[in-house]
Amino acid sequence: NWTTTNVVEEQVALIREQVGDKRAICGLSGGVDSAVAAALVQKAIGSQLTCVYVDHGLMRKGETEQVEKDFVAATGAKLKVVDAEKRFLDALAGVSDPEEKRKIIGREFIRVFEQAQLEILQEEGPEVAFLVQGTLYPDVVESGGGTGTANIKSHHNVGGLPDDIEFQLVEPLRQLFKDEVRMVGQELGLPEEIVQRQPFPGPGLGIRIVGEVTKDRLDLLRDADAIAREELTAAGLDRDIWQCPVVLLADVRSVGVQGDGRTYGHPIVLRPVSSEDAMTADWSRLPYDTLAKISTRITNEVADVNRVVLDVTSKPPGTIEWE
Ligand code: XMP
Repeated sequence: NWTTTNVVEEQVALIREQVGDKRAICGLSGGVDSAVAAALVQKAIGSQLTCVYVDHGLMRKGETEQVEKDFVAATGAKLKVVDAEKRFLDALAGVSDPEEKRKIIGREFIRVFEQAQLEILQEEGPEVAFLVQGTLYPDVVESGGGTGTANIKSHHNVGGLPDDIEFQLVEPLRQLFKDEVRMVGQELGLPEEIVQRQPFPGPGLGIRIVGEVTKDRLDLLRDADAIAREELTAAGLDRDIWQCPVVLLADVRSVGVQGDGRTYGHPIVLRPVSSEDAMTADWSRLPYDTLAKISTRITNEVADVNRVVLDVTSKPPGTIEWE
């Protein structure tokens, strides 16, 4: 019979058997799947696991701290944090095209993660043979079911390593659906904010700034996004909406009036959607009072924002994200 306790016990035994006395690496994204996969593997093999978190500087307010502090406190996992903000911002400088941004972020992410893997290999030696991934059942079905290996190329100039390193994959969530993963995460004692986290795209806030991504714009968007999330949570709406992207129209300005004078600021877009699987979505009919509160707070508290607009487009024709 299916209980989270059984799933945890079974997976812990399987992971121990698979990894033996070797070592494993797990990349944390801030999302539910990688956190639960890491927590399971940590329970199974403890300090034989090293987690890696690449801080690309595109996360929402508090999310990096959530990984650094709350995840580590809940699991006791060994964590390597790579501060790559400058590298990502440099690579994104001058780029406005959404696909270009995605490509750059994806490419830099792989490079930084591979570099971190190599450093861990150098520190801990060839015992590091496994890579943990938070693959879920729907991903397995979609990709045809194979389990596999992952390669990294040691093109960086580090001595004593083979040219091509192959990791065996550890995928402890392969039989689980998302809601089951959340239950397992809860059973493992992960914080509610991680376990119940709504979907958030890998490229992060980089694809929620329409226009060039800069540090100032990211900080501004982080503030606006934090206010929207706070108010949605306070209104008890987290379970009603699938996710609510908050988007900065950095290339758009409009005239406003605040205090004593005229302003010429940027609009923030709220994009609350309801959905079953993100393939289709409808815009959420949020209570006007909640929308009013978010709007008032954002325009009062976030400098350079003088307008908050609501996206009332379903998917299709609109996607959930703006880029
Ligand atoms: P769209 O905008 O295509 O988004 O309607 C559908 C769902 O996917 C998320 N999303 C991403 N997730 N990497 C991710 O991990 C990405 O590049 C990415 N782009 C979109 C989006 O937040 C929504 O849940």
